[in-house]
Amino acid sequence: MEVLLSLRDSFHKESESVTSLPELQQLKVKYLGKKGLVTEKLKTLSAIAPEHRPAYGKTVNELKQHIEQEIIRVELLLKQEEYKKSILTEALDVTLPGKYTPFGREHPIHKVLSEITGIFSSMGFEVEEGPEVELDYYNFEALNIPKNHPARDMQDTFYISDEVVLRTHTSPVQIRVMEKRKPPLKIIAPGKVYRCDADISHTPMFHQVEGFMVDTDIAFSDLKGVLQLFIHSMFSAETPVRFRPSYFPFTEPSAEVDIGCIFCSGKGCRVCKQTGWLEILGAGMIHPRVFEYVGYNPEMYTGFAFGMGVERITMLKFGIDDIRLFFENDLRFLRQF
Ligand code: DAH
Repeated sequence: MEVLLSLRDSFHKESESVTSLPELQQLKVKYLGKKGLVTEKLKTLSAIAPEHRPAYGKTVNELKQHIEQEIIRVELLLKQEEYKKSILTEALDVTLPGKYTPFGREHPIHKVLSEITGIFSSMGFEVEEGPEVELDYYNFEALNIPKNHPARDMQDTFYISDEVVLRTHTSPVQIRVMEKRKPPLKIIAPGKVYRCDADISHTPMFHQVEGFMVDTDIAFSDLKGVLQLFIHSMFSAETPVRFRPSYFPFTEPSAEVDIGCIFCSGKGCRVCKQTGWLEILGAGMIHPRVFEYVGYNPEMYTGFAFGMGVERITMLKFGIDDIRLFFENDLRFLRQF
């Protein structure tokens, strides 16, 4: 009995100094394992005098149960300790500043493009698109620019083959739309165009917005009204607008449209080359021969068309003097819009 009591004491001493779960596991094996100190005592039961056996057996069993309970208690304490430690060491400091993820934003060209299409949508124009790799037929031929026509010199064309080009303007979309649809039509066609040219005011790729309207009685006055409203929405309601006679093979009559210089208010400056005017788009009444190419009767239908450069309008709107800035992807430039 004394041996059992000292076993109990020694267990308590040892269990008090346990500081981790693996140590506790070792202690459990030492006392309760197959060859554990308490287990050994149970095995020696037969060596005890029969009259003492029940009392001895009972005490050993109580000791065993006591140690089992103690181990569970200590285990719980150790787990709580570990949890507290992990909370301290793995804690998040919610007051630390977050990691900065920069936001992208709309490119100035895209911004102005959306503004242009928005203004024409509000006038009831539909948006159509066409391919950037285009047949010579749509880019030139059906727009009344036959092969070897001197007007082809106006556009520095990237040829893919004799019959295939990178479109030099968005005008071919006129032909594609009229081929598949019948009037009345009120269309704008925004997109990328390509010309072999590069300097302070030209890049090999740039953007245009084409527009056209076809019906049985469209007049030049409709063209003037639509473009004037567009210009006044895009710039300001006071901006002067001027139509100047010009030439395009696919329109007759043709015009170039100028606005009063927004930098000097028409007084004359470096940007408007002292003229007081800035050219912003080409336009005209659709040539009867273009209607013949798409199978419309030119006796029955009339229409106007126009085309504008998006980079040029953006440069004027924001006072940018070098077109190449749009495509250099310099964030110091792009962040300003
Ligand atoms: N396609 C012409 C160009 O890129 C612009 C143009 C002028 C388009 C007159 C038109 C138009 O639709 O009527 O230079």
